[in-house]
Amino acid sequence: MMGRVLDGVAPHMTEAGERGFMIASEREATREDIVAALRRERVDVLVNFLPVGSQAASEFYMECALEAGVGVVNAIPVFIASDPVWEARFRQRGLPIVGDDIKAQIGATVIHRSLSALFASRGVNVARTYQLNTGGNTDFMNMLDHDRLTAKKVSKTEAVQAALAARLDDENIRIGPADYVPWQKDNKICFLRLEGAGWGGVPMHLELRLSVEDSPNAAACVMDAIRFCKLARDRGEGGALIAESAFYCKHPPRQMAEDAALALLDARAAPQLDAAE
Ligand SMILES: NC(=O)c1ccc[n+]([C@@H]2O[C@H](COP(=O)([O-])OP(=O)(O)OC[C@H]3O[C@@H](n4cnc5c(N)ncnc54)[C@H](O)[C@@H]3O)[C@@H](O)[C@H]2O)c1
Repeated sequence: MMGRVLDGVAPHMTEAGERGFMIASEREATREDIVAALRRERVDVLVNFLPVGSQAASEFYMECALEAGVGVVNAIPVFIASDPVWEARFRQRGLPIVGDDIKAQIGATVIHRSLSALFASRGVNVARTYQLNTGGNTDFMNMLDHDRLTAKKVSKTEAVQAALAARLDDENIRIGPADYVPWQKDNKICFLRLEGAGWGGVPMHLELRLSVEDSPNAAACVMDAIRFCKLARDRGEGGALIAESAFYCKHPPRQMAEDAALALLDARAAPQLDAAE
């Protein structure tokens, strides 16, 4: 059905013809329309997969979810689960939310975090790092508008800062989308570099190039997040799901080491698996 556009579509996306977004001419949905549709279809979990920078549109759909009584997986970098005011509203309403900004199965963020943790555990101080990403899908085209990128950069950068032994000054860490390369289509390439010093202050660096199919890489984690969100809704749990958000998202309410979040998730899924057997 037709949605409510708000700030979901950046002006340059409508000018890009078939490669961008073409806004349908149908009447836009009202909040009542969306709430009625969510109830009619007996929706358990609403997934927010709007373009980066859709602050007003995301808030509109969050209001719909709260009114209709459905759980939420917030896959984009608009801060809802990690915003105390929004999180409290989900908790008061008894509705679970996993967020914010989905972390792909084997994506740039989880690799960058894992390498940062490895350097820390081996006693190598990271002095400088970058993670530059290119791609050719509509997500990368949308992100050409740098005004829409503020939260995306915070989300991606904080995910890595949290895994480093010591936070880096802004000038020594650069993470974000670097450019839109149309012929790459849904192939995303990440160029990653870590510079540090090992024993005796001896310098070392690591270069990594990651090439992935962007959409299924994210979908893998969204699928799991939906399942955990449904479990929590059935159990009557409200508010941000702390372990699920930490494991599946770049900007959770509380960052955790990957293995610590996974151990908590296993414990949360265990009673359900036992019951199924
Ligand atoms: N690896 C990944 O794919 C990945 C990982 C993390 C986060 N994300 C985020 O997920 C989001 C979606 O990514 P994508 O690749 O699917 O982007 P996309 O551009 O292919 O899809 C966005 C869709 O939202 C629709 N839309 C725009 N405004 C709307 C509105 N107001 N109401 C209803 N629909 C609206 C557009 O028509 C489009 O179909 C982005 O914010 C992206 O950063 C993606």
